[in-house]
Amino acid sequence: MNSRIFNFSAGPAVMPAPVLERAREELLSLGGAGMSVMEMSHRSPEFEAVLHKAEAGLRELLGLPANYRVLFTYGGATMQFSMVPMNLLGGGHADYITTGAWGEKAIAEARRFGPVNEIFTTRESGFRSVPANDELAFSGDAAYVHYCSNETIDGVEFHYDLEAGGIPVVCDASSNILSRPIDVSKYALIYAGAQKNIGPSGVAVVIIRDDLLERIPDGLPQLLDYRTYASADSMPNTPNTWGIYLIGLVTDWLSEQGGLAAIAERNREKARLLYEAIDASDGFYRGHAEREARSLMNVTFRLPSEELEERFCTEAERRGMSGLRGHRSVGGVRASIYNAFPREGVTALVEFMSEFRDANG
Ligand SMILES: Cc1ncc(COP(=O)(O)O)c(C=O)c1O
Repeated sequence: MNSRIFNFSAGPAVMPAPVLERAREELLSLGGAGMSVMEMSHRSPEFEAVLHKAEAGLRELLGLPANYRVLFTYGGATMQFSMVPMNLLGGGHADYITTGAWGEKAIAEARRFGPVNEIFTTRESGFRSVPANDELAFSGDAAYVHYCSNETIDGVEFHYDLEAGGIPVVCDASSNILSRPIDVSKYALIYAGAQKNIGPSGVAVVIIRDDLLERIPDGLPQLLDYRTYASADSMPNTPNTWGIYLIGLVTDWLSEQGGLAAIAERNREKARLLYEAIDASDGFYRGHAEREARSLMNVTFRLPSEELEERFCTEAERRGMSGLRGHRSVGGVRASIYNAFPREGVTALVEFMSEFRDANG
């Protein structure tokens, strides 16, 4: 099959078709180099230009102030669960907010490195909501506070930039980075695995305020020390050249779409269509997240039985809609509708939801 399906996968996720087409065009020879980006030295001027373009694209879209560094790292967002405490705890303690499955993993890993206060969690109520900023009581002397702005598995999202009264805010934004404008100056560190809204898997982006680099303890393993990436232009060793190249193409595409404000508008509209279909189903489809915390990126819902959920996903697949099964840890249905996911795919799903309910409700 050569035609594209509607890919609702949570990640690796759908890429913008024009990006794939451009990568295909440039695959045998990038900019007249006579070789692909995968074949060229990462120390060549050609690749340096590729890396700087990717960084410049991210800086421009996010409106990054000059005192923030962009680092391309390895090990996905998961490695950041370790790097954040290793680099930033500094013998003190950290505050963590746990609103879903990824927050659980982050806090579990941080506990290996030092004392951690879980200042808020929605674990008991099944990860359906997020706190309002004024519900949070930070410990005054925390080295940092960590939260996940969009819980990919549970489908709950913070719709505001957290403020912690001077405590450095660290955010796992893996699944909603670049989906809307944010006020970067409120964050000390933002990290994200690339494979949802930024590019392919295998690269993680870390945006770090430069004063944080000064508090990193000496003696960390080289590749787990943010300073190593900051001082080597993200190339302490051979980086994921292909991934970084694609990030540059994705940022070009996003700029052509009108930037983050424009894509946010489209994301809101796509999510609205889906949540309206859920709400109008007389309880046949039940959204997992509470209304105010509903994710615009990962729409999670249940059907009356697991058997119906399975049938729903199988029939959807037959109609060219894949990746709808909820994460294996929670089940249910999850429609991931990142930046590159087309509106037509959402309307196709909404139509199918209505037909499926008529046939099975
Ligand atoms: C919010 C969030 N954090 C962390 C991760 C882990 O990312 P990685 O697989 O890049 O380590 C994911 C993966 O889906 C995620 O969605």
